[in-house]
Order: sequence, then C-alpha cells, then structure tokens
Amino acid sequence: MTTTGLVQGASVVAAVLFILSLAGLSRQESARRGVNLGMAGMALALGATIALALVRSERPAGVTAALILLVLVVGATVGTWRARSVEMTQMPELIALLHSFVGLAAVLVGYGSYLTSYPLGHAGSGAGADTVHAVEIYLGVLIGAVTLTGSLVAFGKLSGRLKSAPVTLPARNWLNLGVIVACAGLLAWYLTVVGPASGAAAVVPLLLMTVLALALGWHLVAAIGGGDMPVVVSMLNSYSGWAAAAAGFMLGNDLLIITGALVGSSGAILSYIMCRAMNRSFVSVILGGFGQKAGPSSSDGPGGEHRETTAPTVADQLVAARSVIIAPGYGMAVAKAQYPVADLAAKLIGRGVRVRFAIHPVAGRLPGHMNVLLAEAKVPYDIVEGMDEINVDFAETDVVLVIGANDTVNPAAQEDPGSPIAGMPVLQAWHARDVVVFKRSMATGYAGVQNPLFFRENTTMLFGDAKDRLEEILKSL
Ligand code: TAP
Repeated sequence: MTTTGLVQGASVVAAVLFILSLAGLSRQESARRGVNLGMAGMALALGATIALALVRSERPAGVTAALILLVLVVGATVGTWRARSVEMTQMPELIALLHSFVGLAAVLVGYGSYLTSYPLGHAGSGAGADTVHAVEIYLGVLIGAVTLTGSLVAFGKLSGRLKSAPVTLPARNWLNLGVIVACAGLLAWYLTVVGPASGAAAVVPLLLMTVLALALGWHLVAAIGGGDMPVVVSMLNSYSGWAAAAAGFMLGNDLLIITGALVGSSGAILSYIMCRAMNRSFVSVILGGFGQKAGPSSSDGPGGEHRETTAPTVADQLVAARSVIIAPGYGMAVAKAQYPVADLAAKLIGRGVRVRFAIHPVAGRLPGHMNVLLAEAKVPYDIVEGMDEINVDFAETDVVLVIGANDTVNPAAQEDPGSPIAGMPVLQAWHARDVVVFKRSMATGYAGVQNPLFFRENTTMLFGDAKDRLEEILKSL
C-alpha cells in the first residue's frame, strides 16, 4: 500500500475514534474512556498528517522533518506547561483563548492559501485556482476572523480583564446586519476580480472583509452580558470547529474537515442545550442579539436584612435533618471545597440522612464544571441530580446547602421580569425548610445581580471561605 493510502486509512480510523470519543464524553461514567479514545485518535491524526507532509514536501525530507519536530517541541512544551499550571477555575478562559488560536490559524491558512494560488506582484504568474477554492478562502478567513476576536473578548470577560456587562451600541442589530451585507458585497467584488491574473487586486476586498469580520466577532460577544456567557463559550466552540473545517477545505485535508465538522456540530448541539437550559433563543444567540435587558431591575439594589449563622449551628441543623440537598456553584471551585463537600455528604449518609447534589446546567464557568469537580472528589454519580429532576424535591427537603452558588439559585430569574437573568430556570432552593448559603460576602454572582434568596426568612448566611467553613462543620459533627 502507498503512503497516501496508509494515511487515508489512518484518517478514517482517527475520525471513527473521534466520534466514539464524543459518544464517551456524553456520559460521566464513560467520560474517561472518551478522553482516551480522543487522545488515541489525535495521535493517529498527527502521525498521518506528518507522514503526508513528508511525502508531499518539495524540500529534502530531513529539513521538513526538522521543521515539524521544532514546532512540535515548542507546542508540546507550552501545552504541557499550561496543562500543569492552569487552575480548574481558569479552564474556561484558557479554552476561550485556545478557540482564538483556531480562528487565527484559519485566517493565516486563508491568506497563505491565497498567496500560493495568486502570488502578489506577479499578475498572471499564479497557478490560479477555481472559484470554489476562492470561496473556500473567503469563508475560511471570515469564520476565522469572527472566531478570533469573539474568543478574545470571551477570554477577557471570563478572566475578569474585561467587564462582563454587555456593550450596547445604538442600533447594534442593524450594525451586525450591515456588516454581514457588506461582507456579502465584498464577496461579489472579490469573485469578479480573483483569478490567475488578479495579482494584488482581489486581496483588497479580502482585507476589507477581514477587518469587518474582526469587528463583527468583537461586537457579537461584547454585546452579551455576564449571565449568558455559557452559551457564548459553547457557541465559540462551535465556530472554532467550523473555522478548522474551513482550513481543512483550503488545505485539502479531509481529516481536518471531518474533525472541524465534528467540533462545529457538537458545539452547536451544546449551544442548543445551553440555550434550552437558560431559556434563550438559539437564533438570537447566533446573532449575538441577546443577554441585555434595558430598564431597572428590582433585584439590582440591596434586598433587606440577612441573618448570619455559624458552622456549629449548621452542623446541628444537618444532624437533625432527614434530607439534605447540596447546591454547588462557582465558589466551590474557587475554594476547592469539593473534597470537604464529599466528606460531609459521606458522613451524613453514614448517619442515615438522605443526601443529594443539585446541579444547574450552567453552574460554575464550564459546561459540566460541577460534575467534574464532584467526580474528582469521588462523589457517587447516583446522588448527583440535574436541575429538572431535583427541582420538584426542594419542597420536601429539610436543609439545602448552597455552596458558592449565586445566580443559579436566584429567585429573581423567575420572579423579576426586569432582571438581566429573567427567564433563566434556576434551582428552587427557597422551597426547602432551611437554606444555608456559603459565601464570603454579600457580593453579587457572575451576572452582577443581587440575590433575594439571601434575605428570605428561611435563609441563613455562613460567611467565609467555603472550604474552611465546611471543615469546621466536619469537626463539629
Ligand atoms: P456565581 O453566580 O458565579 O456566584 C459564585 C459565588 O461564589 C459568588 O457569589 C461568590 O460570592 C462565591 N464565592 C467565590 N469564592 C468563594 C469562596 N472561596 N468561598 C465561598 N464562596 C465563594 O455562581 P453560579 O451560581 O455557579 O453561577 C454561574 C454563573 O456563571 C452564571 O451566571 C452563569 O451564567 C455564568 N457562567 C457559566 C458558565 C458555564 S458554561 N457554566 C460559563 C460562563 C459564565 P463571594 O464573593 O461573596 O464569596
């Protein structure tokens, strides 16, 4: 069999491994297997791509191999260092940054592909390419540029470098529409001039479109408010997949097309699931036209008197309870409190208390963030329940421990139509007999909205770092 044949075979196997990996990742129990299958597929894909590069290279094979080795060593060193040093709480911003790299790669591949097909300053000397390839380049650069700036803004918002509040330019939907229409017009211009003899002429509409697409990516994500960022993260995940698929078309690399399409479509499905979880419209997310509510909200200001409690008092409440629900949120990740939380759950179960975890789909800063942390602390899967399953049970629960969660347990989402998170389904913890909220202060959550739960009759606040407070409770038990 020829090298090309072997590479094609390896590409098919790698593609199948990627599909099996996605299937594995869809359930907590099989997620580890999914990751291993994905790593095997990626190793095979990398091997096949390097083999193909060596076969196709016009340089001596030794030079090509040395260049590939160099970039592999640089990439692997940076990747290993980041993977080891990144905190779990920084994962979302790192992922957003990685998405921006995919966008940048698609833009660079697009320009590389253009310059190879239509060399500048040598009008008439280029090999030329058909219209389909010219459109591939245009779309690849467009999707890549939107992904690049959109992901950088998401990185800024998730890491706190940019304000999470939405940037609401006047007539912003018309601005977006105008940019899309202008890009379509530039495509028509580009297609009339692009060709073997075009020289530098067609690069002008390509450059203009790139500037517009970069601005569009920035605006689409800047216009989205803090509480709606989960949908943006999954949407950019999808965009980065389509950018990779576009690069695959430009490079004539089937495996990149398949992989990009898999990432693009799974990201789109995840965005759809996120939209449903947050009661947002999928179409308006894609258009960046959601997430900002005009007008004052009654939940913006101070909400009245709150009552404080102590760790020994909470320990007494837990000992006397028959059923307890733990609702974790981003603060549990910050405090790295998953281990004492798991110990507390095990101790209470040992004493005959019914304990369950309530997981909101957007708790934390990543899809599945809480599930990952609880799995890390070896919490059994069968006591971890999703929002829809557990919401009906709060009314029959003695004590709810809200550990570093805020927006995901905020009743304003359902009771205050003026709230920026209005309409978002939340964990209805307030229906329980007693609610204990673990946090460090009366500060708002990620969406910047005050939480009326903290001022309810049946709520007490346990201030301090969640891990320290849980350890105190464990000592008191
Ligand atoms: P948040 O609303 O982010 O609130 C977290 C709370 O944890 C804060 O109020 C904070 O209060 C508390 N906290 C922080 N560090 C703590 C510590 N060491 N000990 C105790 N408490 C601590 O949390 P949530 O309920 O999980 O909601 C998630 C939010 O993030 C939603 O708005 C969601 O839309 C957004 N978001 C989610 C994602 C995904 S995909 N899940 C992605 C991007 C954005 P103090 O400062 O007073 O301690």
